[in-house]
Amino acid sequence: MKLTDAQREQVESLLSLMTLDEKIGQMNQESPSIVGGFDVPFSELIEMLTDGRLPQKEFEKIMATAKQDFHEDDIRAGLVGSVMGNDPRKANELQKIAVEETRLGIPLIIGFDVIHGLRSVYPIAIAEAGSFDDALFEETARMAARESRACGVCWNFAPMIDVARDARWGRVSEGPGEDPCLASRFARAKIRGLQNDRSSTENYVAACTKHYVAYGACEGGRDYNTTSMAVSQLYNVYLPAFRAAVEEGAATAMASFNDLNGVPCTVNEYTLRDILKGEFGLEGFVVSDANAIKECVIHGIAENDAGAGIQAAKAGMDMDMGTHIYRDHLRKAVEEGKVPPAVIDEAVRRILSVKVWLGLFERPYVPEEVIEAYEKGLPPAHVALARRAAEESVVLLKNEGGVLPLKKDAKISLVGTLAGSADEVCGAWAMGWKKEDCVSILDGLNKAGGNVAYYPCGGPEGELNAAEIESACAEGDVIVAVVGETVSMTGEASSKANISLPGRQRELLQRLLASGKPVVTVLMNGRPLALQWEAEHLPVLVEAWHLGIQMGNALAAVLYGVVNPGAKLASSFPAVSGQCPVYYNHPSTGRPAGKSKFTSKYLDAPWEPVFPFGYGLSYTSFAYSGLRVEEQPAYLDISVTVKNTGARRGTEVAQLYMRDVAASLVRPVKECKDYARFELDPGEEKTVRFTLQKRDMGFYNNDAAYVLEPGAFVIYVGGNSRDVLEQEIEIRSFS
Ligand code: GLC
Repeated sequence: MKLTDAQREQVESLLSLMTLDEKIGQMNQESPSIVGGFDVPFSELIEMLTDGRLPQKEFEKIMATAKQDFHEDDIRAGLVGSVMGNDPRKANELQKIAVEETRLGIPLIIGFDVIHGLRSVYPIAIAEAGSFDDALFEETARMAARESRACGVCWNFAPMIDVARDARWGRVSEGPGEDPCLASRFARAKIRGLQNDRSSTENYVAACTKHYVAYGACEGGRDYNTTSMAVSQLYNVYLPAFRAAVEEGAATAMASFNDLNGVPCTVNEYTLRDILKGEFGLEGFVVSDANAIKECVIHGIAENDAGAGIQAAKAGMDMDMGTHIYRDHLRKAVEEGKVPPAVIDEAVRRILSVKVWLGLFERPYVPEEVIEAYEKGLPPAHVALARRAAEESVVLLKNEGGVLPLKKDAKISLVGTLAGSADEVCGAWAMGWKKEDCVSILDGLNKAGGNVAYYPCGGPEGELNAAEIESACAEGDVIVAVVGETVSMTGEASSKANISLPGRQRELLQRLLASGKPVVTVLMNGRPLALQWEAEHLPVLVEAWHLGIQMGNALAAVLYGVVNPGAKLASSFPAVSGQCPVYYNHPSTGRPAGKSKFTSKYLDAPWEPVFPFGYGLSYTSFAYSGLRVEEQPAYLDISVTVKNTGARRGTEVAQLYMRDVAASLVRPVKECKDYARFELDPGEEKTVRFTLQKRDMGFYNNDAAYVLEPGAFVIYVGGNSRDVLEQEIEIRSFS
């Protein structure tokens, strides 16, 4: 986000006219609150829902009838700078109050969680990241920006770029996986897609890169839990994607719930001011996560709301999401000299800068014709892109005996409650889709002209239906079993201690295998699962994640071979839950796991993941040969030959890894430094080149200093992080 001089002028002159109350109003974000319609306080209602006293359906009925308070009077009084929501007509209504009924007519910035599409929902991030297709990351983000603006949303709380190495954490589904390089490329592409098409204010939004920072390192994989790490770990693993996002122009950031080394990120001056705004140079503003300022009292870093608000403001937290603490306490804090006026001015300057950059003063409303167009249906180009993104995100993990692709006339017994549900295809944090736009796996197979009989049999919850299992095994030439997780088992507040297939799904698979019929297992899930038994016993395994509105069509295209799957895993899959966290870019230790008892491993489980980062098969095959590494003054010139050794065209992602063999800090056994995605015809071979800049071969030490240290390095290239060609090279000097 870059402002013109004229825009900076506009911000300064507006700021100079504002009263302290109007400034504090800009720092306050409201969400529609639920009022009336029930006898207990809303928080009690949530408790009742959570502990099962209130059935979900009953809760939804109450919510449908309860009135929503959009805080119109507070907006009119100039006490609100931002609201949340994705209803375009409501957005125009509230915007009209802000623009036409307040003293200075400052428009609201309207935010919403558009993590992987609004109406045209595409794959969850951990799936899309596995395409390793930067152009796709950007295209889908641009589509999300257009649909957001059409719904009155000019600020997406995205991209979520938290590196995560522990699949027990439910929010692994929302981010780009375990690797800082992939996460950084993903972040850059998403910022470009969300923000860079400024041909019209209908085409871009302010991004909100989140959750800043190290939220994915929550202890035990338990959401919101404490995080602690060395400065070098913070800088080498969790900050790179945020640095990349800010370099790419991210307009805003959202602080994360966790405390980092004892200081909640909401009030962490070191991460907010020194690093994000200072070292990285964020131009826009920082918003707290929901209720997070208030939670600083519960963290135990502040004695009361006012104290939390003072700490947050001084730490560089510019906007308060939903607690009213800034609205209710900042004026007094300034008057008592506890918060310097300059802190308020800086926050408001940042907020106004984003609003000016968004063009909100010139075009604050969604044109009626744009609203009506979306009410008629989704643009075909958006549906097509959602489908392509889904097709590019399917990972083939096993295909023994070449069971896939299926013959169109094969009689399929489709098994599993997930297969028949259009409600489950969009995954976590998708809140704008309409059921009529969603294609279930059953629908997709039927639309593809398949010969399909459907037997729910069982799923992530509930019992197995023995009669249906018997019929499914008897009737079909081939059994397609769809197993995995419901959407509610993934995303926020969905940490799990046991990440094997939930319910009795493994038993279902065992009974299907016992039929002797070919079984194709499709995983529909939001996190890496612990698949020790599945990886050993299932001949065919397809990772389909939650692919969005076009899931059924995309998966049918893959199963029938219309599309040759080419995605890879953005996160390692553990054998058992107890392995977590498991990731490829780990240090060696002095006793790396091996045959000897006295090495770093388990007595009761394997130490390696069942499927590593970067892994994925194809209906064809690829061979790597001829790795060459040549040192140039400023870079390494690396090349490898890749050949399509199979019988059909396919997509491959060649991955470049590096190891710094001996350094002043222990370094990972491998670090991804680059990747290249390409297609090859049968028999075709290609020389894939990587240019590894020497300046990129360093790391941050515990003084947060970036260091380049001569010595031995190993270069690896392959189709995943395990099966690689390697070559040692001695770098005598980086100067
Ligand atoms: C949630 C999430 C955050 C989201 C925010 C607003 O608690 O942590 O990702 O953007 O609240 O919905």
